Amino acid sequence: MLEHGGRLRAAAQHYGIDQADWLDLSTGIAPWSWPVPDIPQRAWARLPETDDGLEAAACAYYGAPQVLSVPGSQAAIQALPRVRSAGRVGVLSPCYAEHAHAWRKSGFMVREVGEHEVDYFLDSLDVLVVVNPNNPTGLHLSAERLLEWHARLAERGGWLVVDEAFMDNTPPLSLAAETWRIGLIVLRSFGKFFGLAGVRLGFVLAEPGLLRLLAQEVGPWAVSGPTRILGQACLRDREGQVQQRLRTDQARDRLVALLESYGLAPQGGCALFQWLVTAEAQAIYEFCARRGVLLRLFEGLTPEASSLRFGLPLDEADWRRLHTVLFEYRKESPWPR
Ligand SMILES: Cc1ncc(COP(=O)(O)O)c(C=O)c1O
Repeated sequence: MLEHGGRLRAAAQHYGIDQADWLDLSTGIAPWSWPVPDIPQRAWARLPETDDGLEAAACAYYGAPQVLSVPGSQAAIQALPRVRSAGRVGVLSPCYAEHAHAWRKSGFMVREVGEHEVDYFLDSLDVLVVVNPNNPTGLHLSAERLLEWHARLAERGGWLVVDEAFMDNTPPLSLAAETWRIGLIVLRSFGKFFGLAGVRLGFVLAEPGLLRLLAQEVGPWAVSGPTRILGQACLRDREGQVQQRLRTDQARDRLVALLESYGLAPQGGCALFQWLVTAEAQAIYEFCARRGVLLRLFEGLTPEASSLRFGLPLDEADWRRLHTVLFEYRKESPWPR
């Protein structure tokens, strides 16, 4: 199993701090979670049915011609290699580590490529996977560039897989509307923007033939009845979505400013997290964790290559706490010259 943010139980045990006393900034999940509507008893009692409106709500929200619902986009990441025969896979890295892991596990040759290496390697690949906006670097790629990559791959029967888990704040960058194209596969995560990662819901956007193959891999009743009702309520709540975009965008700006004020200007990010490469990453992570503030640490081969990801604080008390812990850190470890 790979490492991920959000492992609060393990951190509580390791640092001897009660779970309830942590400020968890280790994930990229919006801290404002949608209110859960009343779930009728029959949704718990009966097997879920697929023509209940969830897919239609998702098509309207994402602007996609058709979708397949899955129990979290992670389920699709694991299923995709199983509907393709052998070949060479490129993963634009660093990114969410589950992509390379899933392809390797299914026996594919995986090459992790940097942004500027893609054009060089593309013609030797059968599949290219990109996360846009990227986690953790925050790299945003334009639709034009991605469609050009897709065209080069599709000519040879290849795939472009675009993981848009963090796309909800920037819909104009999404390729959702283009997923009628053969060989273009977009993954959407429901849990992050709607702040409901626990329900395990995601969508695959692709042409119908590929969705049928994936549906067979995922199997029947993969998304629970209660989740299907909750998902529809969120995907149809246009007013709530506008508000969520506004407050996450505002919190992003505030987080950038706060980090800058302590000499920790992020190298990248998106509405739901900021990414900072610094030789101080390990020290800051430890200092914060010992005071009950959990960040996500990515350990590099050298201290200079290590990085931190900061999620969004929820309220003023959280902001004060983050401020205080960074202030104390800077008192003990003055800015490097
Ligand atoms: C880039 C990216 N894609 C996909 C996922 C999987 O999310 P989920 O299965 O909750 O949709 C994550 C989770 O952190 C992620 O960061």
